[in-house]
Amino acid sequence: MSAGDLAIGDVARRSGLAVSALRFYEANGLISSTRTDGGQRRYRRDVLRRLAVIQAAQQVGFPLAEIAGMLAELPAGRPVSPSEWQRLARSWRPQLDERIRTLERLRDQLDSCVGCGCLSMEKCALANPADRASDLGPGPRFWLRSRSAR
Ligand code: FES
Repeated sequence: MSAGDLAIGDVARRSGLAVSALRFYEANGLISSTRTDGGQRRYRRDVLRRLAVIQAAQQVGFPLAEIAGMLAELPAGRPVSPSEWQRLARSWRPQLDERIRTLERLRDQLDSCVGCGCLSMEKCALANPADRASDLGPGPRFWLRSRSAR
């Protein structure tokens, strides 16, 4: 524990997250703390960066389990070095790129046939005649194109 360590209320205030969310993240291994003699949590200041990554990743739709898996690649018990953040960013990039492509398709094709099987739009008769998209798998196949390639 060091003098710069933060109490849970300080972390909540600085990160904008509820204390209950911090406890939840900690219980699920996304962040960690030490305890004072009195049993109070203390967080190293760099927990704020981890929380920023968690918040951003959640905002673009990454499931918490996936975020936890990625953060598990970082060292625990000491601040993460810039090169370790860089390595994480590189390993995460393909998934981020895929998210971006999916969001771009959503943005650009929201008013088009998405190959979901509803056949409810005029465009479906041309884009997805007789629901041929179902041969590619479940869900909105024209949005999830790259997933079918996996
Ligand atoms: S929008 Fe659902 S099949 Fe075309």
